[in-house]
Amino acid sequence: MTGGAGFIGSHLIERLLKNSNNRVISLDNYFTGSVDNHINGAKYIKGETKDIENLIKDTPDIIYHLGEYSRVLTSFDDIDLVLRFNVQGTSKVLEFCRKNKVRLVYAGSSTKFGEFDDTEDGKSQTPYSYFKSINTELINNYGRWFGLNYAITYFYNVYGGREIRDGKYATLIGIFTRKYINNEPLTVVAPGTQKRAFTHINDIIDGIVLVGEKGSGDGYCIGVEKEYSILEIAEIFGGKIKILPEKKGDRKSSKINPAKMSELGWVPKQDILNYINEIKSKK
Ligand SMILES: NC(=O)c1ccc[n+]([C@@H]2O[C@H](COP(=O)([O-])OP(=O)(O)OC[C@H]3O[C@@H](n4cnc5c(N)ncnc54)[C@H](O)[C@@H]3O)[C@@H](O)[C@H]2O)c1
Repeated sequence: MTGGAGFIGSHLIERLLKNSNNRVISLDNYFTGSVDNHINGAKYIKGETKDIENLIKDTPDIIYHLGEYSRVLTSFDDIDLVLRFNVQGTSKVLEFCRKNKVRLVYAGSSTKFGEFDDTEDGKSQTPYSYFKSINTELINNYGRWFGLNYAITYFYNVYGGREIRDGKYATLIGIFTRKYINNEPLTVVAPGTQKRAFTHINDIIDGIVLVGEKGSGDGYCIGVEKEYSILEIAEIFGGKIKILPEKKGDRKSSKINPAKMSELGWVPKQDILNYINEIKSKK
């Protein structure tokens, strides 16, 4: 796996190691990952995906490729990192899979299906969403050109334990949780009506494991179909809300096509309302 010290990767390792036949190796550069997320029983290699060929000497049955630059709005500031991690790095992961005949499961992003109302044509992309989307096309082409065995998932706004709550790379629900606990106003980027399909980490892991076992090709959208606006989420937490200026690249919603996950029998079990209520009950 790449990105095993990150939020989703660490949960995936935890789940995979429940099966005692599995052995997991994580390749992570600790950009947003942390040793605090390490799971007993996994092997951790510190390094970049662009160097995968020199760092990984085993030939795994499957690579879950999660180790990329993974923040939407900050990607404008970090274009150099996006190019290194998501373009150079991912192309090396693909070459590793091609040469060693390894199955690949890619963590694509729902931002590919984003709808925008701040541009004339309704289309807008951040460096993050552009390269995530390009990578899905490249992987499909590796399938056509070289017979790569692959499946592409699309995660929708994942929340849950171990998400980053502080600093530049904190996630939305992580930030709201921290501010709520500290009695600070929740900051909502204008207009606040932008909707997200918030999906619990356990549902994401159920989904990606199913795709790893049975998925083939593109189009596995792992997200709950019910969307909430950011403002609604802030109101459910309660307390004061501070509206921040609009940001470039902030989509108003993302479409979900649930067909391929339904085929695998995946049904999400969690609603974010229960998660927020749990946080509130602990305060
Ligand atoms: N969290 C979400 O809502 C969401 C939604 C859609 C897609 N995704 C995708 O899922 C994957 C995991 O996301 P996450 O939420 O766990 O984020 P994360 O930032 O917690 O995890 C990414 C991990 O990859 C590592 N990494 C980054 N670049 C690397 C590189 N070049 N080489 C090796 N390791 C590298 C980071 O250190 C980190 O541990 C990412 O590819 C992300 O784009 C996440």
